[in-house]
Amino acid sequence: MERVIGIDLGTTNSCVALLEGESPTVIPNRGGYKTTPSMVAVTEAGKRLVGHIAKRQAITNAENTVYAAKRLIGRKWNSPQVKNTLMTSSYVIVEGPHDDVRLKLRDKTYSVPEISSMILQEMKIVAEDYLGEPVAKAVVTVPAYFNDNQRQATKDAGAIAGLDVIRIINEPTAAALAYGFGKDLDKTVAVYDLGGGTFDVSVLEIGAHGVFKVIATTGDTFLGGEDFDARIIDWLVSSFAAEHDIDLRQDRMALQRLRDGAEKAKCELSSVRETEINLPFIISTGRNEALHLQKTLTRNTLESLTEDLIERTTTICREALNDARLDIDEIDDVVLVGGMTRMPAIQAAVTTYFGREPNKGVHPDEVVALGASIQGAALLEDKHEMILLDVTPHALGIMTFGSFFEELIPQNTTVPTSQAKVFTTSRDNQTAVKILVMQGESKNAEENELLGEFILTGLRRAPKGEIEIEVTFEINTDGIVSVHAKDMETGQAQSIQVTATSGLTQDEITEMIHSAKDYLVERRTDEDFEGAKQEAETLMAEIEKMFPEVERIVASSDFGRDAISKARTVLERAREAISRKDADAVREQVEGLARTQRMFKGVVSRAQ
Ligand SMILES: Nc1ncnc2c1ncn2[C@@H]1O[C@H](COP(=O)(O)OP(=O)(O)OP(=O)(O)O)[C@@H](O)[C@H]1O
Ligand SMILES: [Mg+2]
Repeated sequence: MERVIGIDLGTTNSCVALLEGESPTVIPNRGGYKTTPSMVAVTEAGKRLVGHIAKRQAITNAENTVYAAKRLIGRKWNSPQVKNTLMTSSYVIVEGPHDDVRLKLRDKTYSVPEISSMILQEMKIVAEDYLGEPVAKAVVTVPAYFNDNQRQATKDAGAIAGLDVIRIINEPTAAALAYGFGKDLDKTVAVYDLGGGTFDVSVLEIGAHGVFKVIATTGDTFLGGEDFDARIIDWLVSSFAAEHDIDLRQDRMALQRLRDGAEKAKCELSSVRETEINLPFIISTGRNEALHLQKTLTRNTLESLTEDLIERTTTICREALNDARLDIDEIDDVVLVGGMTRMPAIQAAVTTYFGREPNKGVHPDEVVALGASIQGAALLEDKHEMILLDVTPHALGIMTFGSFFEELIPQNTTVPTSQAKVFTTSRDNQTAVKILVMQGESKNAEENELLGEFILTGLRRAPKGEIEIEVTFEINTDGIVSVHAKDMETGQAQSIQVTATSGLTQDEITEMIHSAKDYLVERRTDEDFEGAKQEAETLMAEIEKMFPEVERIVASSDFGRDAISKARTVLERAREAISRKDADAVREQVEGLARTQRMFKGVVSRAQ
């Protein structure tokens, strides 16, 4: 039976869900956790770690452990967000070949989609382990405010992970789907989603017969729990500097411990009013003396450190309502999504702004993946009773003379959508026309996000103005932009060369798909071997334990001595197979070990 999983690829945590029968269900990972940390590490031995095992070693291997990669996905090297991350991250960020960002782990550099693909691959494995069969298709969520470059890069990540991403959907929309699924509601809701790295607000109309229509969406893809943690870190670092004149940021391990301590304190302060941040031996002074960090953080201090961040979220809520042309009292329900909405000051700000208690009926960490799984099943079964209408979060346009942004598709237009525009040549015999496509809200093109330079090439030679090319700009249901062109006179498709994107080339993606497959084979082989080894070792330990007794019982008979020596051979062979790391050989020995164990048990029970 074909299935589609829903994956919430979060900045901090990722989650995978599946629609089982009529109920969407989160799939726990092997550790029994319903979410998996979005962390990737490479150990000294070159082994890749993803999820909880990466998180557990983050402090001792800070430089080679990536967290919050989603804050960098689809961003250009020169962007302010990348600069900000460069200053504060404990892992190494370098410039990539396409004006993009690469992350250095040990002796290899990885693109951001590659790191994200490792997390997606992990979530795919979680689902496959649970189902006991391969999974090929997925719906992956992204922040509603993600632009085309970020969406495209997420799609690349899916491809690298070996997933057929049949749809990209917006996180708040997914949350609304899970909230309204099967309830036959007729309501206007606002979804406030503050996660680890991003913030979105979407206003939706949920109508009878399962129609989910997004009216407006806005947000900030660089505003989330990470920024709250950063405020606590700043506070700790500056007070430490004042006291000891040492900058803790210079030490990657110290920085990682600060991150850890700050996040923990922030979460604790959602339920208590005061907490202690205690980081012994945080740094050595160079005079062979270790310094400790010990500070008490109160909820009040945290709130004053982060007041402007919370205010920014309510400002964005106001924009969303303006864009939706709705008054606050027209909102029937406010749905809180994301781990950060557990912070009391955030709940209070939302309550004050909307003038009502937010709905607490959905699980803030799981609802997005649940919604993605619902959409996945609907796409697969072509269920028409559920209709999802989303919008594009950014205006799409082109740069015109004087660096002016000419808007072609306005913000909050329902997708899919397209818009055509006719371009003409401005010189005689001009054979190429360059179009700069961008997304953003500024009239000044340079302040918007450049999606690509599209060059119409191979135009017919003709006097200026005679050639007319119709260019169609399209945004599909994934929110992804494409551009086609045709010669108005001949009706022929005009080829387009895309020159500037921060994404990966097709060759790079193909190469990464191969290495992801290699990793999977390696990992499955490792797991296979580990499984066989564990089985063998358990049996071996039991046999070893019985050995003295069995030897004593059978010592007098030749048959007994023979059996003992056979048992020794079996143990020896098993040990040898384990040392060769040969899973098949170990499994073969498991059978021999099981026989030996049965024989030993028989000897002992007969002697009793
Ligand atoms: N009890 C709590 N109090 C305050 N903050 C919390 C609490 N629990 C979790 N958080 C914070 O919530 C954030 C993680 O939320 P979540 O898992 O929803 O994010 P995400 O989905 O990974 O990120 P995003 O949606 O932005 O990509 C982290 O910053 C975490 O510290
Ligand atoms: Mg999230």
